[in-house]
Amino acid sequence: MQQQLPQHIAIIMDGNGRWAQRRGMPRSAGHTRGVDAVRIMLTRCRELGIPYVTVYALSRENLGRPQQELAFLFDLFLRFLKSELPELERQSIRLAMIGDRSALPLTVRTALDYAIKRTSGGTMLFTLALAYSGREEIMRAARTLAASCPGENASPEEWERAFRCGLYNPELPDPDLIIRTGGELRLSNFLLFQCAYAELYFSDRLWPDFDNAELDRALAHYAGRKRRFGLTESQIEEGNIPSSGSLPHSVRGCPRSETEDRTS
Ligand code: IPE
Ligand code: IPE
Ligand code: MG
Repeated sequence: MQQQLPQHIAIIMDGNGRWAQRRGMPRSAGHTRGVDAVRIMLTRCRELGIPYVTVYALSRENLGRPQQELAFLFDLFLRFLKSELPELERQSIRLAMIGDRSALPLTVRTALDYAIKRTSGGTMLFTLALAYSGREEIMRAARTLAASCPGENASPEEWERAFRCGLYNPELPDPDLIIRTGGELRLSNFLLFQCAYAELYFSDRLWPDFDNAELDRALAHYAGRKRRFGLTESQIEEGNIPSSGSLPHSVRGCPRSETEDRTS
């Protein structure tokens, strides 16, 4: 029987450092292995036909890590963007980024822009959250809302739409499933606005050990969840879907200036 699949999976990839330290290796070795786990996971999601995958690769708070680790991570992102490009294109995977571009080195921004452009025709969206902070994104959207102010008589839906236009990617639907590896039970500033009705799956596996079997377990858990969005089960069974706020949705057609990131 075909199980219910999430349309958007967002993953907090945690545990790279511990994976390496447990083996007496430098933390960087865990990050390198983490990239292999990303590749495997992405290919599996592609095969399953999941249209949106987002990975938390670097939080704004991670920018406070030791310079040496950060330099390694930025170099790893560069190598990833270069080495994976042909495979992303082959699998028709479109790359996108959410987060504070201005906090990234120019080399990474340039490689990102190139990869995003080259993969723009892809049919599955793979989003990297880099130098990302959920609170910062909410404040960014609040600033956009203040500037566009829909007016006193606007409906709650219009207000929400105007707010969402200030999110890093208003067209990205809210995640249906958030997976966190590494054993911690927290969101660490990830997709704070969008997670309202996401199903959460916490895995004790360290990210480099995350494999297809663990992904399938997360998907099986998701398929077994009853999503009610605040309503009763019989309301949902009757097809009574809440219209605003609580349903995963996205916004198209925002004014360009609001979504554009002018940092080069
Ligand atoms: C997650 O692994 C990857 C990044 C935050 C870049 P960590 O580096 O946080 O690994 P642990 O949690 O210290 O094991
Ligand atoms: C969350 O992991 C960020 C990423 C996976 C990129 P952290 O290791 O930074 O989270 P905390 O510090 O344990 O909350
Ligand atoms: Mg961690």
